[in-house]
Amino acid sequence: MILLKNAHVADYISGIDGEKDILIDNGKITAVSDKIEKNCETVMDCTGLIAIPGIFDMHVHARDPGQTHKEDLLTCAEAAAAGGITGFLCMPNTEPVIDNAETLKYIAEKAKSAKVKIYPSCAITKGQEGKELCDFELLSKAENFPSGGSPAIAVTDDGRPVRNSATMGEAMIKASMAGMTVISHCEDLDIACGGFMNAGKVSIMLGVRGIHRASENIITSREIDLARDLCEKVHVAHVSTKESVEKVRAAKAAGVQVTCETAPHYFALTEDMLLTLDADYRMNPPLRTQEDVDAVIGGIMDKTIDCIATDHAPHSLQEKADFRAAPNGVIGLETSLAATLTFLYHTEKISLPDIVRLMCVNPRKILSLREISIAPGQPADITLFNPNEEWTVEPDKFKSKSKNSCFKGMKLKGRVKYTIVGGEVVYED
Ligand code: DOR
Repeated sequence: MILLKNAHVADYISGIDGEKDILIDNGKITAVSDKIEKNCETVMDCTGLIAIPGIFDMHVHARDPGQTHKEDLLTCAEAAAAGGITGFLCMPNTEPVIDNAETLKYIAEKAKSAKVKIYPSCAITKGQEGKELCDFELLSKAENFPSGGSPAIAVTDDGRPVRNSATMGEAMIKASMAGMTVISHCEDLDIACGGFMNAGKVSIMLGVRGIHRASENIITSREIDLARDLCEKVHVAHVSTKESVEKVRAAKAAGVQVTCETAPHYFALTEDMLLTLDADYRMNPPLRTQEDVDAVIGGIMDKTIDCIATDHAPHSLQEKADFRAAPNGVIGLETSLAATLTFLYHTEKISLPDIVRLMCVNPRKILSLREISIAPGQPADITLFNPNEEWTVEPDKFKSKSKNSCFKGMKLKGRVKYTIVGGEVVYED
């Protein structure tokens, strides 16, 4: 039994906004009230801390199987726990690609000993080659995994787009029949054409090939049009441009079933970071302009953007050493809440209920996972943080195997103090 004393519960789902004691027993929350007196093995003083339902990150590259020199499911889960994240969706661009039952079984087996809850997605197309659709029916049904393996809950070729529009449309129809969420990596590869940063003033100054914003915008438009025509749902990953935000806003107003996410780097940083010639500021889509940052923040504020995910994309120091040759991607699990607090909450752009909506409620809703809250009977998945503690990001201290953080060296305000998953304290600062 664990007793959390004097935590400020900020949970608009249970309707609680105030200082409470929380009692946890057998993996569940058993009581939430002003004062609980009980003899417990563990009593934690949470004075000054905010308690929210556990954060869920719907965009994580765990690199397992196949690229475990960058990360593995267990280190990824440790990094998540350190970032206050109690569950995540792992992306299928592994080696081999998650497009078959064997790989899903491997993940489920390994996830059993992970500190947080791991849900797999599978590829849209076999080998992420953009040609033949995976068997969504097979990969989504729990009865096909009798030994406890867990089925995929979403489909995505993330890391790449599905190049053929008809194939993407068919994926939307078949995924919906299988009860899975379609997540689209919006990039027109012909336009992106080997570029590695935003096409704009900085790419011109550096004399490097840029990725035009049209690359993202065109496929965002295509996915919206497909969803509209087919009356299906689509979730747009990592929105980074002003135009993408505008397109999703207009589509939602017109009743199209589109949702989207962004990542902290897109509301906190601009292409100017690339002037450092440091590949830790390179990701895909790339950092854009201040106008895009402002539009992304506007989209978060008016609910066009449904959630904040990390796109945690670990790469080794060696791989990131060469600015031009390095792969795209940045880690984010251990900074996402702190960056959100620093750049959105402390700047009075969003409130605590917004954080709960963006990081806890909407990701689960989009993936059709059970809603959680801080109330009796609920699973004890709780994130506790000090909103005012300042700290400097030192990637060397991260749990993640990789250190490619674009927030390195920055002072952030807000720090995760405890992460509780299934009634167990899986992280303590
Ligand atoms: O920057 C990125 N890195 N964007 C992606 O879409 C994929 C990811 C990766 O897997 O490294």
